[in-house]
Amino acid sequence: MTEFELIERYFDWGEGIGDDCALIEVDAHQQLVATVDTLIEGVHFPKETNAHDIAYKALAVNLSDLSAMGATPLYFTLALTLPAMNEKWLQDFSCTLKTLAQTYNIRLVGGDTTKGALSITINATGVVKCQALMRSGAKVGDSIFVSNTIGDAALAWQQMQVQEIPSIDLLKQFNRPEPQVKLGQSLLGVANSCIDISDGLQQDLSHILTRSKVGATINVDALPLSNEVTQHINNTDDWCIALAGGDDYELCFTVSKAQLDSIQSIEKELGIVLTKIGMITNGQGLIIKGLNETCQSYRHF
Ligand SMILES: Nc1ncnc2c1ncn2[C@@H]1O[C@H](COP(=O)(O)OP(=O)(O)O)[C@@H](O)[C@H]1O
Ligand SMILES: [Mg+2]
Repeated sequence: MTEFELIERYFDWGEGIGDDCALIEVDAHQQLVATVDTLIEGVHFPKETNAHDIAYKALAVNLSDLSAMGATPLYFTLALTLPAMNEKWLQDFSCTLKTLAQTYNIRLVGGDTTKGALSITINATGVVKCQALMRSGAKVGDSIFVSNTIGDAALAWQQMQVQEIPSIDLLKQFNRPEPQVKLGQSLLGVANSCIDISDGLQQDLSHILTRSKVGATINVDALPLSNEVTQHINNTDDWCIALAGGDDYELCFTVSKAQLDSIQSIEKELGIVLTKIGMITNGQGLIIKGLNETCQSYRHF
């Protein structure tokens, strides 16, 4: 049984799970948006990762889920499981957590502290006025976009596995992904569907297709890649690093023809690159042109 079959079989009770965040109607004009993510030492980050980077990533991945719904961050709770009392570690952890929280204007309102193997769980809540972005709104004929570049964090992780030291740029993408909160908010009323890419583009875009009951065709030559990832692919022909590596925390979203001009305005306003990688079709599943292998995205089970 895979991770997703497990969730569907035991926990999908028809009460609204399945998107990047849960949506809770407050009134006709507002929705609360809630998400939870856990980071475990040795699974999500290597043992030698410093407390600053752990704190940053633990909050950033939750902010990323909020961004995928177009939400404005409000507050979060922090469940911390620590192997030992280490004041220096705690000082570093709380310092970076607080700085990032202030940057995104999200308040720490509670949590839980326990002893055990190092793991950090953050539960974040935001708000959306009118209609949140969802995975289920993609329409046939939509263009599919991805923000910035993908594959950088996965390349860093792969290099660390073989005791290579990744470049500063790759490490930054791995340890300190920038949550696309402003982009998500700008896409409200513009994008038909949206997801944040945490498990790799192939798997995460497939979630949009399943929930929207559509197909898609993308082209590997259109993928937005950094110079380092391009070089890696040129040397190895390993497209899976960009398609299935995971940990990108960029947004993948779909836009109807009528809204394409808005995408150019958002790019200019936010100073980021949004790349069209393909189209939503009335076919089934995801067709990846230019890919001659199958990529396995990350799954816990
Ligand atoms: N143990 C669980 N109980 C209930 N819902 C879950 C559980 N685990 C995951 N989910 C839900 O299943 C969906 C897919 O989860 P996941 O792929 O982890 O989302 P994300 O990558 O955006 O964090 C989400 O809507 C999530 O809230
Ligand atoms: Mg997500």
